Amino acid sequence: MTVISIPSAKRLISSMRDLGYEFSDAVAEIVDNSIQAGANVIQVNLHFDGYDSYLTVLDNGVGMTPAEIREAMRFGSMRDYEQDDLGKFGLGLKTSSLSQCDSLTVSSRNSQKKVQVHSYSWDMDHVNKVDQWEILPVEIDELLNPVVEHLYSTTGTAVTWEKLNRLLNFQDPTGGRAENDIKKLTQDLKVSLGATFHRYLTGEQRSKKVMIFVNGDLVESWDPFCRSEKNTLELESFSIPISMDGKKGTIKFRPFVLPTQSQFSSSSAHLRAGGPEKWNKQQGFYIYRAGRLLQSGGWCGLRTSDEHSKLARVLVEIPAGFDDLFKVNISKMKINFPREIREEAILKLAPIIKKANDLYRAHGETTFSGASVYEADDKNFEQLVSNSLSKLDAEWSLTPGTVKNVLPKLYGQATPSERRYLLRIFKRLAEEKKAGEKPLA
Ligand SMILES: Nc1ncnc2c1ncn2[C@@H]1O[C@H](COP(=O)(O)OP(=O)(O)OP(=O)(O)O)[C@@H](O)[C@H]1O
Ligand SMILES: [Mg+2]
Repeated sequence: MTVISIPSAKRLISSMRDLGYEFSDAVAEIVDNSIQAGANVIQVNLHFDGYDSYLTVLDNGVGMTPAEIREAMRFGSMRDYEQDDLGKFGLGLKTSSLSQCDSLTVSSRNSQKKVQVHSYSWDMDHVNKVDQWEILPVEIDELLNPVVEHLYSTTGTAVTWEKLNRLLNFQDPTGGRAENDIKKLTQDLKVSLGATFHRYLTGEQRSKKVMIFVNGDLVESWDPFCRSEKNTLELESFSIPISMDGKKGTIKFRPFVLPTQSQFSSSSAHLRAGGPEKWNKQQGFYIYRAGRLLQSGGWCGLRTSDEHSKLARVLVEIPAGFDDLFKVNISKMKINFPREIREEAILKLAPIIKKANDLYRAHGETTFSGASVYEADDKNFEQLVSNSLSKLDAEWSLTPGTVKNVLPKLYGQATPSERRYLLRIFKRLAEEKKAGEKPLA
């Protein structure tokens, strides 16, 4: 005889809230669902009002019937997935939302003709009280005005996050610091969504372009490969065969070497190309699943993110049906590079890295103007320079030899152009201090 063993709702949900979602990744899960539901206009609003702060994601997709909303709210909801489906686990809506808020409401309208809106919510206060897998129906007059207005005007779905205790984790959730934090999150969200969904925003993924707005501002797409820059080089693509459970496929790699600072059309384009994590960290693989960016930069342990290879970015597509090979996890934030193709990938990357290196060295520092001379986004190097400068106070005889002795570590790991730069800043400082008077190198 079998015995049914039902998990504790309170305990299991609270563990599932901590899968490690960042705010913007959690919002991306909601946007995934909207795109999958055929929406081409998605409006994200993050509204600060102390304890009454909320986030809404309003889409104009196909919407859901009341039964479909109830299924959508189920942890481990069931549906058939398409080949290039953005969904996979039946969990994203719930886990991502409850990682950020204590109350998730899903409202939807699926009829073009009739204005019928149905809503259900997961409320953590309720779950903690009853310890049951219970969702609550929500009446229309309990919904936020923007949600009602939206679903009165179109079919689609509205996801609402309230009780944002986790986001407003400040001593005073109504105060200026909390408000500033929300502003910063809003800014970062625009950048992050512009990267994650860039192919959907430009229509590269599906013919119907998607427009995403954050607090009314249209999200700009961010192309990691700067394909509109005339000096971007696309190198020859290559593929590596893979197999999983007897199924065969190939992983396609499209390598790009981006222009150096001086080869960019403008300094603002160069700055933007640096991306959310800046140049050094943004080198590496850009791994896509169903056209959505899962990993933005980094070499998945195949090599280190060296300053001199920072112009190299490689587009990698996870072929449909091979998610498990990359160990795509529930939060879709972490993937593993398949072990069996590591060696071949390292070999195939070598000429790309060399090309990026050569370009960096040839054009890396054509101008010497202030902090942009060496890459100011390399925080380690910057820190080393500043530490070393304080040590230099006593030593103003600035010859290359002195620098070499005083700053062995710094000098040792600097490239020739960084060494030249070091000498220049020391020289300038010495002139400012008018203390040196000794001949400079
Ligand atoms: N905006 C939406 N419009 C229409 N249906 C939706 C929307 N959001 C969610 N759904 C439905 O709810 C279901 C559950 O969503 P959820 O994000 O939890 O899982 P999933 O998308 O199937 O898989 P994953 O866990 O990989 O995201 C979806 O499969 C979809 O059927
Ligand atoms: Mg989903």
